[in-house]
Amino acid sequence: MKVHVNGIDLAYSDEGHGDPIIFLHAFPLNRTMWEPQVAGLKDRYRVITMDLRGHGESDAPMWRYTLEQFAEDIKALLDHLGISKATFVGLSMGGYILFALYRKYPTFFHALVLADTRATADTPETKTARFSMAQVAYRRGASAIADLMLPKLFSPSGLENRKDLVARLRKMIIGNQISGIVGDLMAMEERPDSTPLLKKFNVPTLVLVGENDLASPPEEVKRMAEHIPHSQFRLIPQAGHVSNLEQPEVFNHALIQFLENLDRSVGDN
Ligand code: MLT
Repeated sequence: MKVHVNGIDLAYSDEGHGDPIIFLHAFPLNRTMWEPQVAGLKDRYRVITMDLRGHGESDAPMWRYTLEQFAEDIKALLDHLGISKATFVGLSMGGYILFALYRKYPTFFHALVLADTRATADTPETKTARFSMAQVAYRRGASAIADLMLPKLFSPSGLENRKDLVARLRKMIIGNQISGIVGDLMAMEERPDSTPLLKKFNVPTLVLVGENDLASPPEEVKRMAEHIPHSQFRLIPQAGHVSNLEQPEVFNHALIQFLENLDRSVGDN
């Protein structure tokens, strides 16, 4: 499905019935990275996935991208769908966007799931690497970005042994336009440090990370969780950065347990 908001067409899927859960994908992927979660949850929840601007079937304008603008797109989609409160799940860049969304619209949040993401801003070295990656994208195209990103997205054994998944992610990456890839890099590069925000989260929060995540080191993700008042931390064994894809059963189990506890605490009130 598509909706026209903020001057662009945004693609999304809306499946199942029940309390809404919104999934935000990583860089430089698209909403299909959440297939195992949609399949595992749609019998009990309303599951919404979207292609962020610049990705998948959404428009990729050749213009400035910011995390706040991604947040505005989410708000516009939720307004369109008549949703005023939801549980949000963001993986990596999806998590960065949730920090921006929470800053602007905290009342939207029923609960929060941060997967394989970090609150800190880019270091000077990372900022330089973003610029270099943008140059690679302009000069050599999205398949060169796939070559650079795939080893960061998977655990070493996942990269070696999960050829099916690696091929799927390559397809997602090369399906993106250069304007979107470069737009993400600029948006991530200028994001602020969200560490001071963490203590302000006043909703139940689940923090997940793959034990072999090379992009968001588990120790850093655990420290982030310790700053969030009502948080639980779960390490996903034998998974890298895309922990939801490398270990979908374990990821879904942690997520469903968290969601069921939310349902129970609402029932207790
Ligand atoms: C992602 O998976 O979204 C990226 O690794 C985030 C980043 O590059 O900081």
